[in-house]
Amino acid sequence: MSYVRIFDTTLRDGEQSPGCSMHIGEKLDMARQLERLRVDVIEAGMPVCSPEDADAVRRIASAVRGCEVAALSRCVGTDIEQTWEAVQRAASPLLHVFLATSDLHLREKLHMSREEALDCIRTSVRRAAQLAPRVEFSAEDASRSDPAFLLEAFRAAAKSGARVLNIPDTVGYASPAEMQALVRQIREGIDEDVILSVHCHNDLGLAVANSLAGVLGGAGQVETAVNGIGERAGNAALASVVMALRTRPDLYGAETGVDTTQLYRTSKLLSTVIGRSVPANMPVVGQNAFAHEAGIHQHGVIADRATYEIMTPESVGVYRDQLVLGKHSGKHAFAQRLSDLGYILSSEQLDEAFERFKVLADRKKNVYDKDIEALLGAREEISPLAWQLVRFVVNSGTSISATAAVTLRRGDEELEEVARGEGPIDAAFSAIRKLANVDYELDSYSLQSVTEGRDALGEATVKLRKGHHTVTGRGLSTDVIEASIRAYVNGINKVIA
Ligand code: KIV
Ligand code: ZN
Repeated sequence: MSYVRIFDTTLRDGEQSPGCSMHIGEKLDMARQLERLRVDVIEAGMPVCSPEDADAVRRIASAVRGCEVAALSRCVGTDIEQTWEAVQRAASPLLHVFLATSDLHLREKLHMSREEALDCIRTSVRRAAQLAPRVEFSAEDASRSDPAFLLEAFRAAAKSGARVLNIPDTVGYASPAEMQALVRQIREGIDEDVILSVHCHNDLGLAVANSLAGVLGGAGQVETAVNGIGERAGNAALASVVMALRTRPDLYGAETGVDTTQLYRTSKLLSTVIGRSVPANMPVVGQNAFAHEAGIHQHGVIADRATYEIMTPESVGVYRDQLVLGKHSGKHAFAQRLSDLGYILSSEQLDEAFERFKVLADRKKNVYDKDIEALLGAREEISPLAWQLVRFVVNSGTSISATAAVTLRRGDEELEEVARGEGPIDAAFSAIRKLANVDYELDSYSLQSVTEGRDALGEATVKLRKGHHTVTGRGLSTDVIEASIRAYVNGINKVIA
């Protein structure tokens, strides 16, 4: 059995795609969860993009100890140095440099000849290798490059010190057969002891298939993103790649180091953080991935689950929804349930989560696993500058215009505003906007129920935008107006933070 490294780029390729931006605390939460999932490499960002990106890379590099931390850089000397400065404090840093190798990109984007590109690769990889213990070189648009020139570029990178050579299908153009042949061709043409990697985009829905074909061709690393987020149609979905390798060892003869029981939680955390729900039919982690609706399927599953299930829900961390706790449950039972669900919290985080659990259990008779997951995802900002909801009153109906009075507290200051709106939520948001004086526009708002029943938790998500920058706010309550107000306040607190 060969070992395939999982290089996760959720926090770089994923985060740079529209609607997926995360603020620094959220990136850290994701990085810690990826570490728990036991991926081999976390690509933490591209530090030269902005001071915030550089800071996120620095903080992730300092916090993560259990896997490599990578940061991406163009093949430009000053960029390489700045990128190294941000990632160097990692326990195992990886400096990732890239240059396009297709004639189209060289001509139209980089205005470079092939010779100039080879020179640039040599100089940049050599500089990166002087700084970092491990260097990865990516040939952007590899699948549309002249294969002979691509091999020359990889030879130059390997001779200059790159230990990982990444073959991206940048625009999702390749077919699985082509990807397998391309990886094999590079494998046979490189003398150095290097790891070949594949990085496939999903423009034609083939990212996972192409990644697996790369493994068949000899790739020892696959680049993935949680829930398949990434530029345009996204990257190869991590859960699908990992579970395909695990479910078909007869075919791929390869294994990963991923703790698959953390897959569902990781997917859930990302969808919470970016405020984008996972489609129900998404492989492995979607709500319907283990649901059997047709009578004939249910009959088969009752006789033997293997009739319609090629992997067990437990193997990916999906447990049957259990009635777990109520208002009489103590902290010990709560902590035990969290640990059964795979959450690892510090004692401070546990205290804070238990306080919120008690508030919920007072309002909701039965607290389910899904409620607990939602509760843990909706962390509130606790900085001294953060606003807290004190109380609200709304008034609306078919024959009156809606009004809302909202009181917020920040430190010792308590302020109230009253506003009108198209409905109670619009009115409440207007009142908060006046109070907090934050110039971000409301980009989107959604509300969904976490479980069923009249006392179900409502989970509200707002996206606030200023130019290209968006933040996601979340709020939870059995009262949907309160959930919406909490989401808006949470979003504003992230803007302030
Ligand atoms: O898609 C791509 O080519 C990339 C590289 C920078 C690895 O994301
Ligand atoms: Zn990419």
